[in-house]
Amino acid sequence: MRVLVIGGSGRCGKLVIEELLNRGHQVTTLVRNTTSMGDARPGLKLVQGTPTNLDDVRAAFQADIPEVVIVTLNAPRATDSPFAAPITPPRLMADCNANVVKAMQEFGVRKTVILQAFGVGESWANMHYVLRLLMSKSNMSYQYEDHNHTDREVRESGVNFVMVRPSRLVETDETEVKVWPNDGKGVGLMASTSRVSVARWLVDAAETTEWDNTAPVITN
Ligand SMILES: NC(=O)c1ccc[n+]([C@@H]2O[C@H](COP(=O)([O-])OP(=O)(O)OC[C@H]3O[C@@H](n4cnc5c(N)ncnc54)[C@H](OP(=O)(O)O)[C@@H]3O)[C@@H](O)[C@H]2O)c1
Repeated sequence: MRVLVIGGSGRCGKLVIEELLNRGHQVTTLVRNTTSMGDARPGLKLVQGTPTNLDDVRAAFQADIPEVVIVTLNAPRATDSPFAAPITPPRLMADCNANVVKAMQEFGVRKTVILQAFGVGESWANMHYVLRLLMSKSNMSYQYEDHNHTDREVRESGVNFVMVRPSRLVETDETEVKVWPNDGKGVGLMASTSRVSVARWLVDAAETTEWDNTAPVITN
C-alpha cells in the first residue's frame, strides 16, 4: 500500500513509519526538517515542507499518490507538562487536517487515519473526573479543543476516517491493544498505551476497513 504520513518526525510518527516499512508498504512523509529522519531507507520518500501549508501537502500527495494518509501530529507545549505554555497556534492540528482533507478530495484519496486522544469527542463524558479536571483546567485544554475541531470538520468533510483515541502514552514495549467503544465507557483512571502499540494499531486501521468511520478508544 502507498501511505502518506503527516507528523512522521514525531515520536509516534517515527514508529508508524517503522511499522509500515516492516510490513512492506511504500511510505512518503512530509517533514519540516528532513535531517531529523536519519539515513535514507528503501521504501521511504521524504518531502520537505509543513502540513500548515496546503501547497506543501499537495506536493507530498503528488510525490506518490497515497491510498491512505496517517496523521500523527501534536500541538506541542513548551514541555510535556500539562501546565506548560502552548507553543503552537490554537488550530494547528485542525488546520493541518483540513489541508490533508482538501488534498484528499483533489487527488481522490479515500481514507485518513488520525491519532487523537482519549477524552476527545464522545469519549469525554466517560473519562475519569480527575482526568477531565486536568484536561479542562490545564493547558492541555487547547490540545483537546484542537482535536475536537478536527473531529467535527473531518466528519463533515465526508472522507473516510478512523480517529484513534489512546489513553496516556508511555514508552513501554507492550504491544497488545484493548479496543473500547467510541464513548470510552469503562476505561480506568490509570489506563495507558505504549507508543509502539499505538503505531501498530494505526497501521492496522489503515490496512483494514474494519474501523472505518469510527473513533475507538484504545489502551493496553
Ligand atoms: N502524551 C500523551 O500522553 C498522549 C495521550 C494520548 C494521545 N496523545 C496524542 O498523541 C499525539 C502526540 O504524539 P507524539 O507524542 O508522537 O507527538 P510528538 O512527538 O510531539 O510529534 C509531533 C509531530 O507534530 C509535528 N509538529 C508539531 N508542531 C508543528 C508545527 N507547528 N507545524 C508543523 N508540524 C508540527 C512535529 O513536527 P517537527 O518534528 O517538525 O516538530 C512532529 O512530527 C497528539 O495528537 C496527542 O494529543 C498523547
